[in-house]
Amino acid sequence: MALVELKDVGKVYGKRWVALADITFSVDEGEFVFLVGPSGAGKTTLLKLLLAQEKPDSGQIRVAGFDLTKIKKEQIPLLRRKIGAIFQDFKLLPDMTAWENVAFALRVCGYPRKLIKSRTDELLALVGLLHKAKSYPNELSGGEQQRVAIARALVHSPVLLLADEPTGNLDPHSTDEIIQLLLDINRQGTAVIMATHDMEIVERFGFRVLELADGYLVGDRKTNIGGGNLS
Ligand SMILES: Nc1ncnc2c1ncn2[C@@H]1O[C@H](COP(=O)(O)OP(=O)(O)O)[C@@H](O)[C@H]1O
Ligand SMILES: [Mg+2]
Repeated sequence: MALVELKDVGKVYGKRWVALADITFSVDEGEFVFLVGPSGAGKTTLLKLLLAQEKPDSGQIRVAGFDLTKIKKEQIPLLRRKIGAIFQDFKLLPDMTAWENVAFALRVCGYPRKLIKSRTDELLALVGLLHKAKSYPNELSGGEQQRVAIARALVHSPVLLLADEPTGNLDPHSTDEIIQLLLDINRQGTAVIMATHDMEIVERFGFRVLELADGYLVGDRKTNIGGGNLS
């Protein structure tokens, strides 16, 4: 069964501004998909619909077994436990250390302390940052901050990770590291949808590319068949 399914989805901001129109596609469990298109094409809007941060004005959306056109407010937290999300600006809490940023996401769900500690350590190790556990976001490089954000996004072992321009603020070396990490996570079975306007990144990998232009889905293709390599 498809993990994400959109049928004729439209989204209008205000009364007239068409952000998305006639969007139909599906994503399977464990897939890695790039979502591309220039600034203003509708990438962020699409990711917001998948997270139920916005509602579609037409069409149907199913994500991880939830019908997002009918989802009730009290079900949204359950949906969001199945979806991790990372952003261009990391969105870490500045007054918390790397460790606390990850642990906080578990604490708000009321997990026991012992479990929070072991899970947080495990996730920081996974992103290679256990040695920076006590650093605050402003003491970390952009790439390191994004790795903390990834650790936080994985606290509930999501089936889907949404990444909105996750390398937009990073230098080429950190960009490669972050994409490598997303690929590792994908290899463990998590589906990844990564929005980017950086076609150079996309062309290097053998993945599916969904292309948006002015709110329309204008392409669904595979690039670089056979798989790309990071140098
Ligand atoms: N909250 C909003 N209110 C009004 N218009 C918006 C809002 N969010 C996005 N838009 C408009 O919708 C279009 C798609 O935006 P967005 O999804 O952010 O594109 P992208 O992420 O591809 O740059 C843009 O023209 C943008 O100006
Ligand atoms: Mg955007």
